[in-house]
Amino acid sequence: AAEPAAEGDLVGLRVLVTAGGTREPIDPVRYLGNRSSGKQGVAVAAAAADRGAKVVLLAANIDDAVLAEVADRAAVRIVPVGTTAELESAAHAAAAGAEAVIMAAAVADYRVADVADEKLRKEDSPGAPPTLTLVENPDILVGLVRERRPGQVIVGFAAETVSSEDELLERGRRKLLRKGVDLLAVNAVGWAAGFESADNDIRVLDADGTVVAVAAGSKREVAERLLDAVRHEIDAAAR
Ligand code: CTP
Ligand code: CA
Repeated sequence: AAEPAAEGDLVGLRVLVTAGGTREPIDPVRYLGNRSSGKQGVAVAAAAADRGAKVVLLAANIDDAVLAEVADRAAVRIVPVGTTAELESAAHAAAAGAEAVIMAAAVADYRVADVADEKLRKEDSPGAPPTLTLVENPDILVGLVRERRPGQVIVGFAAETVSSEDELLERGRRKLLRKGVDLLAVNAVGWAAGFESADNDIRVLDADGTVVAVAAGSKREVAERLLDAVRHEIDAAAR
């Protein structure tokens, strides 16, 4: 059947969304990773497509059950990635053809310096736990900002462990300046809150550090409010 003609306030826009969490191998069977489920980024991809955008979703280690939310949308191209290096090269390739970049993926900050070709075996070092030497990964977002197309809107995410709303905004503002993004979505996380859950609670800061949106509810609802802010930034950049 023919696809229905797209309608919505994002028609004509190409949006790059990264989601999930990158993993860095230790050996062929183990990795360093994080708890990001990819749900928030997938919800952004689905909402953007439903508002008429063409979406590239770089999916870092996302469960099929989570990806199912977007799998049936012709306007979303899903590209699976594993490591930070894979995400970085895929992100640069896709960003070159995108008006908006939404970097929801949780990127492993460090990778293992010397990845073992064979699995680490206790037998090979009895009673002596291995020491992993880590090296810092490149900051993908900073690299994308450096190569930003004219008018391109770039959005970062930051999940912070904080003890107050003030601390959340303060940390968010510092991160925003460090990264040079147009918008930063910040949320508070802890052992229980913020990861595998279906809901989210975010503040969106613009480049001045002003809170331009407060959104709580389902990850889809949060995605819609974030896209409202992106739409606003794109309009502002065009003026
Ligand atoms: N990010 C990135 N590349 C990295 C690390 C982070 O692109 N190597 C992006 C994330 O996708 C996110 C934003 O930067 O959109 C903020 O991520 P965060 O981990 O909060 O920032 P860091 O600079 O790594 O700071 P922290 O020490 O708090 O982890
Ligand atoms: Ca980090």
